Amino acid sequence: MLIPTLLALPLLSTAVVHGRHDAHTHIESKRLPTANWFHESDHPVHGLFRRASEDTDGVTYATVGSSEWAAQYPDPWPSNGIDTSKLPAAWVSALNAAVASKTIPDVPIPTIGSDGNPAYPSGQDPTSSDICSGTYQCRVPGDIWDGPDGTVGISFDDGPAGPLCKSISCFISYSILNSRKGTADILTFLAKNNQPVTHFLIGSQIISLADQFTQMYNMSHDIAVHTWSHPYMTTQTNLQVVGELGWTMQLIHNSTGGRIPKYWRPPYGDTDKRVSAIAKEVFGLTTIVWNQDTEDWSLTDTPPGTSAATIQSQMKQWLGGSKSPGLIILEHELSTQSAAAFIAAYPLMVSNGWKVESLVSLVGNNVSYQNAANNFSPVTENDIINAKNDEAQVSAGGSSTTGGSSTASSKSTATGGAGQSEGAKSPGSPTGTSSAPSTSTTGKSSASSRWTTGPTAVLSAAVLFMLWQQ
Ligand SMILES: *[C@@H]1O[C@H](CO)[C@@H](O)[C@H](O)[C@H]1NC(C)=O
Ligand SMILES: *[C@@H]1O[C@H](CO)[C@@H](O)[C@H](O)[C@H]1NC(C)=O
Ligand SMILES: *[C@@H]1O[C@H](CO)[C@@H](O)[C@H](O)[C@H]1NC(C)=O
Repeated sequence: MLIPTLLALPLLSTAVVHGRHDAHTHIESKRLPTANWFHESDHPVHGLFRRASEDTDGVTYATVGSSEWAAQYPDPWPSNGIDTSKLPAAWVSALNAAVASKTIPDVPIPTIGSDGNPAYPSGQDPTSSDICSGTYQCRVPGDIWDGPDGTVGISFDDGPAGPLCKSISCFISYSILNSRKGTADILTFLAKNNQPVTHFLIGSQIISLADQFTQMYNMSHDIAVHTWSHPYMTTQTNLQVVGELGWTMQLIHNSTGGRIPKYWRPPYGDTDKRVSAIAKEVFGLTTIVWNQDTEDWSLTDTPPGTSAATIQSQMKQWLGGSKSPGLIILEHELSTQSAAAFIAAYPLMVSNGWKVESLVSLVGNNVSYQNAANNFSPVTENDIINAKNDEAQVSAGGSSTTGGSSTASSKSTATGGAGQSEGAKSPGSPTGTSSAPSTSTTGKSSASSRWTTGPTAVLSAAVLFMLWQQ
């Protein structure tokens, strides 16, 4: 189930949608019909993912990657999407409260049209201020599309992708056929270059590739949300939007020592006023889109939608051009090819005098989470760091973590998972480097158990072979 769906992901993307994002003709400026876009200490996210400091939390967290851990969440790639009858009641209450207070606009829900894009009911203009669809280049107020002047904020979508192989059959399908070890390639390169980045992660993929997730976290890369199952979010009901975001937030929270992500990216850049408002009002998430698109996801299409040479020449143009606004370039860690496109362009980012940083650290002024500055700083007790106007502030009662430095907390060893492993490490530290998956192609690195079973790996080899033959 997982593998065909994963492989279908880039195939589902349409060039039409992806191609549109760099020509922003509709700059949206009208505000939502609410006085407060940002909530402060009374924001519902306080209650939804409440967690005291790890030492006093009292909860025993399942080990990241264990079957007990995976069993707490929806199935990866649910065939009918998220089951909204199983959402935690607190999430539904938070949504209902936001709807009742009119902070979630009543935007019509589109269906996928014949051109592959969400189509709103006839007579409804997707670029109108009432709808403001990102697919049609409308920018919802408060969403981020541009970086600060002079900066390149690096991020990757759709990870973790491609296993760290332990079995021979996995090694054959992913290393010999050489197209699906994007995350491993990216992490190896970034560790060597001591360069943290942002990963917009798919919840379903975290379940399947827990070790790669933990490795990103260990390397102090920024963990952000890219939904549970990668739908066009504007086509989802309010409850489905809550499930897609909420389960991914919960999974990240329970697997990172309690960190609450601060940013999400809509798959295909597909958000609108309703979807962005649910993310902000219920979960405190700020939406980040992009202002340049490599279309690197289509490198593995048959035929490919772009080429390494085309991407490199676009990169030369963007990185050699104006430094205002700063660049947010859409890139994927889906494949060896998409990883290689980034690796080829990275020297241009550095040599052209840009400030090159992890996208989330950059736009968040070095505060990467709603309740913690980074992966090695303390999680604030009970309160969240307020994301208002992207200025890091600590709500009353929280401990100050705004320095962005790596003040280490003493971590409980009983919590299991990623949260147990931290000492006084700074982002991109040598510890992160040494844990890079540099041995992945030898088949010696640890792998998620999902990928070690013979039938799964054989199936994956068969599917890849069929695709490769096309
Ligand atoms: C996540 O952690 C919370 C405590 O912070 C716990 O109540 C919950 O059962 C855990 N798992 C899920 C899936 O929510
Ligand atoms: C994360 O780091 C800890 C120790 O710092 C280590 O035990 C663990 O194996 C690492 N996990 C991964 C996936 O790199
Ligand atoms: C974030 O911290 C890094 C490392 O300390 C620093 O180089 C960078 O300028 C900081 N970025 C911002 C936006 O404050």
